[in-house]
Amino acid sequence: MVDYPKEISIEKPNFSVHKPDASFSVARDLFLAVDRNRDFFKPWLGWVDFVKSPEDEFSVVQSVAKNDVCKYFIYWYMRLVGMVGVVREDNANRTMEIGYWLSQDVNGNGVMSQAVKQVQDLCFKHGDANRVEIRCATENKKSRAIPERLNFKLDGVLRQAEFLPGGKIHDVAVYSKLKSEWQKEK
Ligand SMILES: CC(C)(COP(=O)(O)OP(=O)(O)OC[C@H]1O[C@@H](n2cnc3c(N)ncnc32)[C@H](O)[C@@H]1OP(=O)(O)O)[C@@H](O)C(=O)NCCC(=O)NCCS
Repeated sequence: MVDYPKEISIEKPNFSVHKPDASFSVARDLFLAVDRNRDFFKPWLGWVDFVKSPEDEFSVVQSVAKNDVCKYFIYWYMRLVGMVGVVREDNANRTMEIGYWLSQDVNGNGVMSQAVKQVQDLCFKHGDANRVEIRCATENKKSRAIPERLNFKLDGVLRQAEFLPGGKIHDVAVYSKLKSEWQKEK
């Protein structure tokens, strides 16, 4: 079993990226972060409508708190403003997929790009991944900018692969980085 660090470091003043306590008060903070950003997240995150109360978020907090799960919350001062981590693991094929979201009011600082880079490093170093993936709706320009900034390669586009709230069906861009490419970057 892999133990991931409790905290990952990014060079952004007043931001921190770490695991939470598995408490109900963190579930309330998580609910508030999602609730404040519903309109911003809804076009891109299919689960938003299922989050109706802090109780709905408690299992997410419990999962992020676990040491063997590569997931983290992002805090601006003391406020929970985002999440980054591995959302899908395919052990047989040594592939890990990274997902993320960040409150609208702290977008535009480069925080998520740095945090995703750290999670990518953990996948290759601790998680023993051979391939790290990021998937984004093709129209989600802000999300696509992250793998592009981090030198992921565009494998291709899955046509009409994701239904998102509002009934719209999106094409999905699949980006990847291989361990061999990551090693050459260092
Ligand atoms: C996708 C999402 C996380 C991107 O957030 P973000 O703030 O744009 O991402 P970053 O923290 O990496 O910041 C990048 C921005 O900071 C700017 N920036 C400032 N300093 C920077 C630095 N040192 N390094 C990189 N970017 C920097 C960039 O220019 C960019 O701004 P721009 O969009 O105006 O060009 C956010 O928009 C979001 O949560 N969206 C809704 C949910 C979602 O789509 N999730 C992903 C589903 S696939």
